[in-house]
Order: sequence, then C-alpha cells, then structure tokens
Amino acid sequence: MITIVGCNKGGAGKTTTAVNIAVGLAMAGHDVVLVDADAQRSASRWYAERENKELKPSITLIEKRDNIAQTLKALDLKYDHIVVDVAGRNSRELLTGATVANVIIAPHQCSQLDLDTLQELQDQIVRIKDLNPEIKAFVYHSMASTNHSVREIERNEFSDYVSEFSDLLCLKSIGFYRKVYKDVISDGMSVLEATNVQARTEINKLINEVYS
Ligand SMILES: Nc1ncnc2c1ncn2[C@@H]1O[C@H](COP(=O)(O)OP(=O)(O)OP(=O)(O)O)[C@@H](O)[C@H]1O
Ligand SMILES: [Mg+2]
Repeated sequence: MITIVGCNKGGAGKTTTAVNIAVGLAMAGHDVVLVDADAQRSASRWYAERENKELKPSITLIEKRDNIAQTLKALDLKYDHIVVDVAGRNSRELLTGATVANVIIAPHQCSQLDLDTLQELQDQIVRIKDLNPEIKAFVYHSMASTNHSVREIERNEFSDYVSEFSDLLCLKSIGFYRKVYKDVISDGMSVLEATNVQARTEINKLINEVYS
C-alpha cells in the first residue's frame, strides 16, 4: 500500500506525519519503507538518528527524487507499506507518486495560508484521477489548537473549508500542536515511543482511520 504524505504548503507537518505513521505501521507488525522524496532530507536525517540508536521497530529508508512512480511500484511488491514524504509546492514527487499511490494524506493547519492551497490540491487530484481513479485524498488537520476556547471553532472552520472540495476527504482525526512532536524528531523517534499519551492517541487514531 502506497501512502503519499504531501500538500502544496511548506511546514504543514508532512515529515512529522510521515515518520509517525511509518513507525506506527511498523509497530503493528508491517514491513515498512519510508521514502524520502524531498531534497531537504528531513526524513533521512531523522532516520540516521534512529539507525544510530538501533531503535526498534526498524524500518527501511530510501531516498528518491524527481519521477518516483517506478520506484514506488517496485517497492510495493516488497513491502506492506510505503510511506512517502514529499516536498511542498506542487512538487514533481507529489504528482508522480500520486499516479501510483493508494492514498494521499495532506496535512494542513487551520490558517488561511494553508487552506488557500487546497484549491491547487483539488485541481491536482482531478488530473491524477484520470490516471489513478482509485486514489483517495485525505486532508489532515495538523497543529490544531489545544486551547479549549478556540478548539471547536477552529475545527468547524477547517472541516467547512475542506467540504467545499469534492475530491478531498476531511479526516476526523486531528493532530494537535504539542511540543512532543518536535522533541522526538531529533532523537529519531516517533511520538508512539514517547510518554505523551495524547499525541500517541492522535497518531493511533490517524492510522486506524486511514488504514482500517
Ligand atoms: N503536531 C505538531 N505539534 C507541534 N509542532 C509540530 C507538529 N507537527 C509538526 N510540528 C513542527 O512544525 C514544523 C514543520 O513540520 P514538518 O517539518 O513536519 O513540516 P513539513 O510539511 O514536512 O515541512 P517542509 O515543507 O519544510 O518539508 C517542524 O518544526 C515540526 O517539528
Ligand atoms: Mg518535510
């Protein structure tokens, strides 16, 4: 199964989501390869730390840029799950990867600057569906506010906005803004290996919603 974690906005939480999903699927007993398709190499640097520390479960990491479709198809024959971290801004990796992917998970913050890029994603998905009609494009609310007075309003704004796009499905799962998501990256870890129960629950819910 091929999952692209991608959108058209930098800093939306793509790499954070990709590495946490990859570890979560490996913890569930799947054979997982994480594909770093971003020249920034954030996932590769996270992985180097994980490898140094010999953290379990182990996953595989491959770096591939430009047209990644053939590589993903070949990996799909060997692994249960391929999780791809792409760069933002209409990247060639997002488009070529999506032609062979089963799902796209597109993290977005509830900010006008992030949500403004949903139209571009919708237009891309329409074109991608000409080649890959079965693909599902999920929008994931990332870095959501934990503040009780704005949480519900923000969530409603987010889901209302996504509902305007017929080819984008708004995930019920939400990733809240929590320090632990930043902290674990430099240790090559996922939040599933840290003590913050809320963050662990968020990632488990995301995985259950997308893959079950
Ligand atoms: N749920 C979260 N809570 C707090 N901080 C977060 C969360 N998710 C991501 N971050 C932080 O936000 C920043 C951007 O996240 P990340 O690098 O995952 O985004 P990205 O979409 O991959 O960015 P890029 O477009 O540069 O590849 C990072 O500093 C990351 O640690
Ligand atoms: Mg990234």
